[in-house]
Amino acid sequence: MPDRYAVIGNPIEQSKSPFIHTAFAQLTGQVMDYSKLFAPLDGFAAAVDAFRVSGGHGMNVTAPFKLDAFAYATHLAPSAQMAGAVNAMKFEGDKVYAENFDGVGLVRDLVCNLQCPLQGRRVLILGAGGATRGALLPLLAEQPAELVIVNRTVAKAQALATLAYQHQTGKVPVTGVGYEALQGVFDVVLNASSSSLTAELPPLPASVFGTGGLAYDLTYGKGLTPFLKLAQQAGVTHLADGVGMLAEQAAEAFAWWRGIRPDTAAVIHKLTVPLV
Ligand code: ATR
Repeated sequence: MPDRYAVIGNPIEQSKSPFIHTAFAQLTGQVMDYSKLFAPLDGFAAAVDAFRVSGGHGMNVTAPFKLDAFAYATHLAPSAQMAGAVNAMKFEGDKVYAENFDGVGLVRDLVCNLQCPLQGRRVLILGAGGATRGALLPLLAEQPAELVIVNRTVAKAQALATLAYQHQTGKVPVTGVGYEALQGVFDVVLNASSSSLTAELPPLPASVFGTGGLAYDLTYGKGLTPFLKLAQQAGVTHLADGVGMLAEQAAEAFAWWRGIRPDTAAVIHKLTVPLV
């Protein structure tokens, strides 16, 4: 019997995780089975219990269960604690180890795949929800010159800035502001708000974009989102969406489970939706 893994969510049909992990298993010669698991909204724990009883080794967790997984885990990694959410679990007897690889996946995509080092750069991140929260410490670990969190609801941005400043190991200045208070040009502008899911344009002044910088939308598969279009119109030529982040967070989980890190290039190539 191959070792069993799954991604759990509601809905789950859209998930690319089975494709990604099956490709990784082939690339690395690992014998494993990776499936999709639908759970009712109030049935997360029961579904995971049943999967473990049937021999499941680990799981990815997608919406809306990342907080349920946080509560279910017995051992939360610092990444999951800081994100306040879990996107990967590993089962060992009674123990449920939990991680959140989204932030490290984002940084790996920026630095390794897109060749965009963050050290000494001015970084702006849009949104103050779960996506931003998970990204903060991995971003700060790269020692940017400054990290600014911008959000419509300013208090949420300020609260996250305080949290991130206190938990980082370095001393990078972190501030939380409203859109109208943004000043200057940023080298890297990351859209971690949920605006692209509804094809909305965040109230972002085009003056934040430097023409030599990078505009990155954490959403995947939406083509040229209103945010990316704004950046393009402002003269930014280096545009990217979250396809690389998706592949890299999966690779982190795969390495954690199997002890071998797959190369992500082929998966990213297969899943890339053109930015038009
Ligand atoms: P997630 O877990 O995906 O981050 P979330 O916790 O619901 O989702 O947070 C969504 C974030 O996107 C919030 O920061 C939200 O801003 P507010 O806190 O001011 O509501 C932001 N957001 C959603 N739609 C937006 C839009 N059209 N423009 C700008 N920000 C938007």
